[in-house]
Amino acid sequence: MPKPVRKAVLPVAGLGTRFLPATKVIPKEMIPVIDKPVVQYAIEEARAAGIEEFIFVSAEGKESIAQHFSAQPWLEKNLAAKGKTAELALVTGCTLPPGKIHTVLQGDPLGLGHAVWCAWKLVGDEPFAVILPDDMVLSDKPCLGQLIDAHAKVGGHVVAVENVAKDQTNRYGILDVLSEEGRIAKAKGLVEKPKPEEAPSTLAIIGRYVLDPVVFKELDKKTKGAGNEIQLTDALNRTISEVPFHGYRFEGRRYDCGTRVGFVEANVAFGLAHPEMVGRLLPLIEKLVSQVKS
Ligand code: UTP
Repeated sequence: MPKPVRKAVLPVAGLGTRFLPATKVIPKEMIPVIDKPVVQYAIEEARAAGIEEFIFVSAEGKESIAQHFSAQPWLEKNLAAKGKTAELALVTGCTLPPGKIHTVLQGDPLGLGHAVWCAWKLVGDEPFAVILPDDMVLSDKPCLGQLIDAHAKVGGHVVAVENVAKDQTNRYGILDVLSEEGRIAKAKGLVEKPKPEEAPSTLAIIGRYVLDPVVFKELDKKTKGAGNEIQLTDALNRTISEVPFHGYRFEGRRYDCGTRVGFVEANVAFGLAHPEMVGRLLPLIEKLVSQVKS
């Protein structure tokens, strides 16, 4: 039986260049979808999956991310004084318990693999989750919770996967599949951003992982890969002989908030999934569509 997954690493040190100028001062992860910053959805998903400790791999100028999950006494005092109890609950509801939130600075953004390596000392020698907040998932059961359940059965590395269009494989880590059973695909290899004609499948890794700590020793070699960055996919690929590697076809829909179109799509999808908003939003969307068509 694998050890339980208690810690999540959230790499948030990227430059967010695709969202400039919005990300000149505001971290990409703090831009809201509906009424919550993108990173809050990731934390809520992790908490719902039973994660107890949260490790942000961050960068200079992104202090607001950790602040968002810390107590804000001045704001709380003023909301309480005005009797704004519902608003106060929204503020305190996203505060993480003291001692359960850690920030480590990456320094230069040398790649996702390097960002995860930075969390080594804080994670230690136990399985851990990695969440890329850019990937938002709408599902009945939290996507990370689905992975953790699968990990309890198969151990090793378990990553969330979905089928992507053949011409999109060069944007993802792609699985070389050995066998499949239900939602679980056992992989014999991984390729980072292969050209469509070279991709071993169309099963792509999205931003949710449960990893065995053996990956840290591999990342410690600091081998550079695609884009001259230290790639997490490459390190996982090189540990396949040491621990099992499975992709899990999660139940739910993913929205890639790292792109402008994906970000708008996420706002619409989460708005339509919001019980208080859907009734007013749907006619508005229909009106906008008919205006564009006419
Ligand atoms: P992305 O490449 O999608 O994010 O990395 P980015 O670099 O911020 O975006 P662009 O390409 O410049 O627009 C995926 C995730 O990995 C983190 C990012 O913050 C994001 O959550 N990351 C990436 C790091 O923390 N450090 C890195 O060196 C690279």
